[in-house]
Amino acid sequence: MIIVVGSLNMDLVIQSEHIPRPGETVLGNGFKQIPGGKGANQADAVAKLHGKVSMIGAVGEDSFGEMLTKSLKEDGVEVRGIYKKEEESTGVAAIIVEKSGNNAITVASGANFLLTREDVEAKEDLFTEGGILLTQLETPLDTVFYALKTAKAHGMRTILNPAPGRSLPEEIFQYIDFITPNETELELLTGMNTDTMDHIEKAAQILIEKGLTHVLVTLGKNGALHVTKEGMKHYEGHVVKAIDTTAAGDCFNGAFAVGLSEGKSMEESISFAMAAAALSVTKEGAQTSLPLREEVEKFMKEGKVQ
Ligand code: RIB
Repeated sequence: MIIVVGSLNMDLVIQSEHIPRPGETVLGNGFKQIPGGKGANQADAVAKLHGKVSMIGAVGEDSFGEMLTKSLKEDGVEVRGIYKKEEESTGVAAIIVEKSGNNAITVASGANFLLTREDVEAKEDLFTEGGILLTQLETPLDTVFYALKTAKAHGMRTILNPAPGRSLPEEIFQYIDFITPNETELELLTGMNTDTMDHIEKAAQILIEKGLTHVLVTLGKNGALHVTKEGMKHYEGHVVKAIDTTAAGDCFNGAFAVGLSEGKSMEESISFAMAAAALSVTKEGAQTSLPLREEVEKFMKEGKVQ
């Protein structure tokens, strides 16, 4: 079983020629409401890749909350851990996607920030099945910390996707088996420059020195870097036409968790995750872009997008 403790947002997406600079107004084209939120995206990725997954999160008592929960359920995510908080509305994310496929996102967290350690504790029965905990930083740090600790107490393996980026208290590191920052998040975690491969490697090594076991840096089209005490391995990225990179990192994390849960090796799990993430950037939106298991397997075999 894979448990995802994390956020659910309704993404309000506008396509735009370019991401506006401060003070600039840009006329975009096309507006869509798409299910998103880093936690929900990761849970949805797991379900679409045939992993058994349960989500713990919070929405408001509103139509966005209903829609987000319903679409996860329809995709095969167990949703009994999703709370309805009457004091806040469901999280929303304002997303601008520019022609290159790059995006800019601002999140109004809403109910996501009302998810407490008590909420996780009340669903502790989910943890007794063992498996993997996958979590991010769009819910309160105290809740994330508690979830990681609880998972370790139940002998589970844990993955922290430190997104959105921020610095973390070092006491949390002992409860994390795999940390999966992108370059920006790695910079925020370490306070080090990550603008070259050399700098990225050095920053990842710092995290290993601070007690983390596996640092897996996602590098977008440049692939991924896996660093441990024993050494490091660079994985080449796939060449695909990027339409929208929203949720590519979420797709990577969900797929990586599925690989590990199936007993795949580290190498196989990373390759599987990279293939899934590459496919996700060829489609629009967050959960609308997450590939099915069959599509990933076909892509890995044939090396091209259908
Ligand atoms: O990682 C992408 C996600 O970040 C979006 O779906 C948005 O909701 C924000 O949480």
